[in-house]
Amino acid sequence: MPKFAPRMSRIVGSATLRMNNLAAQKRATGADVVSFTVGEPDFDTPEPIKEGAIKALRAGRTKYTPTSGIPELRKAIADVAAREQGIPCTAKNVLVAPAKQSLFYAFQALVGQGDEVLIPDPAWVSYDPMVRWAHGTPIPVPLEAATGFRMTPEAVAKAITPRTRVVVLNSPANPTGGANTPDDVKGILSLAIEHDLWVISDEIYRHLQYDGKPLSPASLPGGFERTWTIDGPSKSYAMTGWRMGWIIAPESCIEAADRLQSQSLSNATSFAQDGVVTALTGPQDSVAAMKAEFLARRDLMVAGLRALPGVTCPTPAGAFYAFPHFDAKQWGGLDDTALAMALLDKANVATTPGSAFGARGTGHLRLSYACSRERIAEGLKRMAAFQGAL
Ligand SMILES: Cc1ncc(COP(=O)(O)O)c(C=O)c1O
Repeated sequence: MPKFAPRMSRIVGSATLRMNNLAAQKRATGADVVSFTVGEPDFDTPEPIKEGAIKALRAGRTKYTPTSGIPELRKAIADVAAREQGIPCTAKNVLVAPAKQSLFYAFQALVGQGDEVLIPDPAWVSYDPMVRWAHGTPIPVPLEAATGFRMTPEAVAKAITPRTRVVVLNSPANPTGGANTPDDVKGILSLAIEHDLWVISDEIYRHLQYDGKPLSPASLPGGFERTWTIDGPSKSYAMTGWRMGWIIAPESCIEAADRLQSQSLSNATSFAQDGVVTALTGPQDSVAAMKAEFLARRDLMVAGLRALPGVTCPTPAGAFYAFPHFDAKQWGGLDDTALAMALLDKANVATTPGSAFGARGTGHLRLSYACSRERIAEGLKRMAAFQGAL
């Protein structure tokens, strides 16, 4: 067989999707697996949003759209960002693309050979490969459980070198649920201004912050011109399968992203864009209702984890993940990867090993609580029984 291109060695498959696949394989054998792996709400997309897309389909909105997105949606996104995030933007500052794709464009546009990109450690699994794919060097910024996994300006300052080009913020965060304080964001932006860095601010979980309030770096003085804000409806409107999202950035950045999109995706799915217009301009009560349910699940999950021997778990301020540490001495001497495999194998509980998210994730598991309270209680019960039998 002919060889793949050398660049393929710089990209690895997503560890979270791999655990999810293992859980699915086990389920296919008839096992009743409690899955804490997947980063998506168990809720269905609210009915009015579906109707918005169905209406668009019926009206024949099935053709290519402008590369950056339909004007109504770009305007709706800019209006929401100005109103809720305080970002001084208009429709010209918006490009519509799935959130993951948006991040890919941002790294492609900003990062070159040898450029250093500061990413949180632990972090969502895709930043590191995306940076490498752009020929950059990911530099982990250590986050501490003791500070609730905030990204502090002190830790960022220590990681900056003359080669640093971009700093990535993700708040609330995957996989830890940690949220940066407004002072963290201000301090990191000051450093970005001082060292002339780009900021990529991944705010996809901003609607799901339970403690404290999110602050967008693009809303601060000197922030907008150097920040790519990434956002989307996947997590807050239960729309993961729609593959929608957006970039908010200065016009020159949107033009760069538009060029990348014009030679790859062409445009985000036409009728799905109409669905998102409905989501952003219609009543927002379903967002609040889902958030309230996630909060109740968080409290159930964290209390249950803390009741397990040898487990420490900071309270996640947002998103829908807990990131507890398991003391191997009380868990059969298993490291996080072995523990996740054993839990799936012996207890039918699927989790993601923390080391998949960076060196600082070692010894932790990520548990998504985007499943029903009954399943959370059942999974915790099985974990306790597993530990008791060790
Ligand atoms: C932190 C973070 N950013 C971006 C994404 C990508 O979102 P989407 O699936 O909407 O492209 C995810 C998805 O899990 C995520 O956790």
